[in-house]
Amino acid sequence: MLAGRAAVALADLPRLDLTRRTFEETLRLYPSAYVVGRRALAADRLGGYRIGPGESVFMSSAITGRDRRYWDDPSTFDPDRFLPGRSAGRPAMACFPFGGGPRKCLGDTFATMELQVIGAMLARRFELELVSGQHLEVDPQLSLRPRHGVSIKVRRRDDLRLESTR
Ligand code: HEM
Repeated sequence: MLAGRAAVALADLPRLDLTRRTFEETLRLYPSAYVVGRRALAADRLGGYRIGPGESVFMSSAITGRDRRYWDDPSTFDPDRFLPGRSAGRPAMACFPFGGGPRKCLGDTFATMELQVIGAMLARRFELELVSGQHLEVDPQLSLRPRHGVSIKVRRRDDLRLESTR
């Protein structure tokens, strides 16, 4: 996709679609900010619950992101579920790793672009392989993180002839 170049250029971004979908799928399963909250300004009803003025409501993309009503086989990592043809009819908030509404993350587009650039450049130079047999567990602190870290094997793709863009 980078046609032998080491660095990503702005014009590459629309073509780095698999990288973007991989990022989206990663955040569906492991949304780093896994809870967002709102305080009710007035009394309301939501999903059959009565909410009083001033009460807090918490919503988690880690839960809706694995809800079988919106996602087939939710535990499987499948970036293609974000292809336009497979996203049709899915509610916009079926997963919301960047929150939603007027207080949605201000940096969502920037974060996506950053991950497209970093992901594509890393994948171009290195092959990453999960070390087998390790105990992977999430640790829901202020943000979602791996409790014991994640060990990966990193191999340089020696066969690549990268051109410097500088
Ligand atoms: C993977 C990266 C990121 C994730 C998962 C993320 C997620 C979130 C979430 C869930 C919220 C709360 C939204 C809500 O309550 O509806 C938020 C708010 C915010 N984020 Fe991010 N964020 C990321 C990167 C960034 C970056 C790179 C920036 C800045 C360049 C940024 C700036 C902000 C700001 C300013 C808010 C507060 C918005 C407001 O309250 O009006 N975020 N983010």
